[in-house]
Amino acid sequence: MAPLFSLLTAVLVFSYGPGGSLGCDLSQDHIQFSKENIALLHRMQRIGSFRCRKDRKNFGLPREMVYGSHIQKDQAITVFHEMLQETFDIFSTEHSSAAWNMTLLHGLLSGLYWQLEDLGTCLLPEMKEAESALGMEDSTLAVKRYFQGIRVYLKEKQYSDCAWEIVRVEIKRAFSLSTKLIEWF
Ligand SMILES: *[C@@H]1O[C@H](CO)[C@@H](O)[C@H](O)[C@H]1NC(C)=O
Repeated sequence: MAPLFSLLTAVLVFSYGPGGSLGCDLSQDHIQFSKENIALLHRMQRIGSFRCRKDRKNFGLPREMVYGSHIQKDQAITVFHEMLQETFDIFSTEHSSAAWNMTLLHGLLSGLYWQLEDLGTCLLPEMKEAESALGMEDSTLAVKRYFQGIRVYLKEKQYSDCAWEIVRVEIKRAFSLSTKLIEWF
C-alpha cells in the first residue's frame, strides 16, 4: 500500500497541482469528479458480469446513501465523505492493485483522493460536535457497516475476479445513487 500511495501522490500533484481546494463550494467539481469516478469504474470492467451471476449478493445499500432519503445537507456531506473514504480504502489495497488495470485504478484513486481532501475542509469541528446531536453517527455507522460487508465478502471469496467484479458493479451503483445527494449543495 505504501508504494501505491506515493505513486498516487505523485500522480495527484502532477494532475491537479497544489492549492486546488475549493472549500465548501462543492457542487460542480464534485459532481464532475463523481461522474469521472463512475466512468472509470465502468471502464475497469474486465470480465462479463453475467459470468459472475452466482456470486451476486445484496449488500444492503443504506438508505442514507440514496438521494431522497430526506437527510440534511450536513449529514449528506458526512455520508458522502465516509463513502469516498471507504471506497478509497477498498481500492487502495494490494489485492485491488492485483485485480485491476493500474492506469484506471490510479485515475480512480486520484479522483477519490482529491474529493476527500476537498471535502475534508468542509467537515468543520463544529459540525463534528453537532453530529451526535443530529444522529449523524447513525448514518455514518450504516455506511461503515455496508462497506464492512463488502470487505468481508471479498475476503470470503478470496478476492476472486468475480468477487471484484460484483464489488465494482455495487460501488458504481452506490456512486450513481449517492452523487445525487450532493447535487443540491
Ligand atoms: C490499462 O488501461 C489503459 C487505458 O484504458 C490502456 O491504455 C492500457 O493498455 C491498459 N493496460 C492493460 C495492461 O490492460
